[in-house]
Amino acid sequence: MIQESTLPGGIAVLTLDRQKALNALSFEQLLNLGQAVERVSASAARGLVITGAGAKAFCAGADIPELVGRTLRDEHEGARLGQEVFQRIGQLRIPSVAVIHGYAFGGGLELALACTFRVATPAARMGLPEVKLGLIPGYGGTQRLPRLVGEGRALELILSGRTVKADEAERIGLVNQIAEEGEPAAIGAAYLAPMLQHGLHALDFARQAVQRGMQTSLELGLRIERDLSTLAYRSADATEGMQAFLEKRPPCFKDA
Ligand code: CAA
Repeated sequence: MIQESTLPGGIAVLTLDRQKALNALSFEQLLNLGQAVERVSASAARGLVITGAGAKAFCAGADIPELVGRTLRDEHEGARLGQEVFQRIGQLRIPSVAVIHGYAFGGGLELALACTFRVATPAARMGLPEVKLGLIPGYGGTQRLPRLVGEGRALELILSGRTVKADEAERIGLVNQIAEEGEPAAIGAAYLAPMLQHGLHALDFARQAVQRGMQTSLELGLRIERDLSTLAYRSADATEGMQAFLEKRPPCFKDA
């Protein structure tokens, strides 16, 4: 199951809760996650924290017993579902953060990679160990990891399948920050809080400009930036932000 809650400030929290299997993503759990993400998308939430229940794991990846004996069609459908759900998370207009405590392996790390940000606790351990099973990452890991840490590092991590500790993950940019051990939802909320002082339009346009630009040429990326910065300029929050500066007062953004 997926626990769903909301913290003050409109921060939605989705907690993977399948502790007997270290929060592994069964097909059913992926469907549940997809539905929970749609509810967040349709809500007034301003930020999203994704984490795992229990002290041991964020998520140990795809459910391995369920993978055994699948037809090729079922395997292909499983990868499509995982990619689709994670893509929806990546495209949410609100910022999302994965709080990784304990293990994040395979599909679990791929879920974290789909979030806008990743925060790890010191004890976190992560990796894409699929090659150890004779498999390769199938929920976006081969595409998102190199975009985040560079092709050379991504290839080394994916082809070795090795485990990365929190300090290395931070050093190579796999996680944005290491937080003190604590309650994962609160860690995620504290990470998002400074960003959520700003209007959602500006956050969304800025994220889109960076992420869409990373997928294209510099020339096209600059064009995307031009268009999105013009859209941001047109927003009521931009009018308010510039006016507040002139009046030497804090802005009062309304996500409009
Ligand atoms: N799927 C289903 N169950 C899992 C699981 C998974 N991915 N990972 C762990 N579990 C289960 C174990 O089978 C065990 O259950 P039982 O108590 O019933 O035996 C329970 O969770 C606890 O696990 P361990 O006893 O193994 O705990 P540990 O602390 O000794 O080791 C671990 C933890 C290092 C994470 C180890 O469990 C492990 O290596 N898990 C597999 C990680 C992995 O390979 N993930 C990739 C999956 S493939 C994938 O994700 C493909 C993709 O791209 C989508």
